[in-house]
Amino acid sequence: MKKALISLQIISVCLFASEFNPQMSQYITELKKEAQSVDKNFIDFDINRGEQIFTSKHIGKKGIEISCVSCHGLNLSEKGKNTATNKLIEPLSPQANPQRLTDVKDVQKWLRRNFQDVYVREGSAQEKGDVLYYIMSK
Ligand code: HEC
Repeated sequence: MKKALISLQIISVCLFASEFNPQMSQYITELKKEAQSVDKNFIDFDINRGEQIFTSKHIGKKGIEISCVSCHGLNLSEKGKNTATNKLIEPLSPQANPQRLTDVKDVQKWLRRNFQDVYVREGSAQEKGDVLYYIMSK
């Protein structure tokens, strides 16, 4: 039974990982290793936890309530709007916008900034992986 469960997990991880390009898959693997070193019970990133990270509201860097949704919207296939500058933001969903989640440097840079905007700290490896799985699923 345990064996069957593990192989099922491996299959689903492989199916999912095939959506990330090689450069991003490498980054995901690094995040996994880091998450595992913090929590030895860690198995994989989780879309539901990612959704929670993306949609929950927090007192952000500017001292007002903010979430990832504030700028990117709830429907990731539609454009968002930067609450700070009022500029439009292209859709975050890789299905709507194939450029998304393809460039590791860009992804790292924006996760760093955007976690600061909302959580006033850097995201942990697990949080970053969870939220990337969530965005990828959209
Ligand atoms: C204050 C507005 C704002 C908030 C809040 C915000 N973002 Fe962003 N985000 C941006 C902007 C601006 C960009 C860069 C412009 C672009 O790529 O269109 C960006 C880019 C990104 C990217 C880069 C995607 C890629 O491959 O190009 C990711 C991932 C991302 N945001 C995730 C998040 C997450 C997760 C949160 C919540 C922790 C969040 N954002 C909150 C404004 C915001």
